[in-house]
Amino acid sequence: MNDILKSAHSGWRYVVFLLLIIAVAKALAGWFGNKTYTEGDRKLNVFALISAHIQLLIGLVLYFSEGWYKLSSAGAPAVRYFKMEHITMMVVAIILITVGNAKSKKLTEAVAKHRTIAIFFGLALILIIIAILLMVKAVPGRSFFGVS
Ligand code: HEM
Repeated sequence: MNDILKSAHSGWRYVVFLLLIIAVAKALAGWFGNKTYTEGDRKLNVFALISAHIQLLIGLVLYFSEGWYKLSSAGAPAVRYFKMEHITMMVVAIILITVGNAKSKKLTEAVAKHRTIAIFFGLALILIIIAILLMVKAVPGRSFFGVS
């Protein structure tokens, strides 16, 4: 069961990446191009939000079922990474996505909606990329574009 969840979490990152990259690109184009905020934009942002929440759920199940929280990280960068750094950075990124989507929903002006998505989703995307780069550094055998 854990193996299936591990592969799902590993592969699902590409769904999150793809949706976030498209959402940020469209939000930047909308912000700087002064475009209207369409129903398609709204749906794209909600799908990106949902994909991140699914990743969070699978991650939380793995975190507790694999017992990362109780492992000692002394002298073990890979354990330290998954026990502390991965969960912290990813949860902050998902909070940014959630807050950005909620804020943008409340706004009425199209450019302000695009700007909010571009900033919040953009920061989340940067944080996720940094977290995965740190994983490649701290955990032997993991690569940025690998699936395990
Ligand atoms: C957008 C958010 C996230 C992304 C993109 C992400 C991505 C990844 C990636 C790429 C791996 C390595 C998989 C592999 O080696 O192929 C991984 C492993 C892991 N992630 Fe996440 N993650 C996210 C959120 C979370 C969260 C919020 C948690 C915990 C609550 C979490 C817990 C874990 C755990 C425990 C592992 C280690 C699994 C193992 O190899 O045994 N992840 N994650």
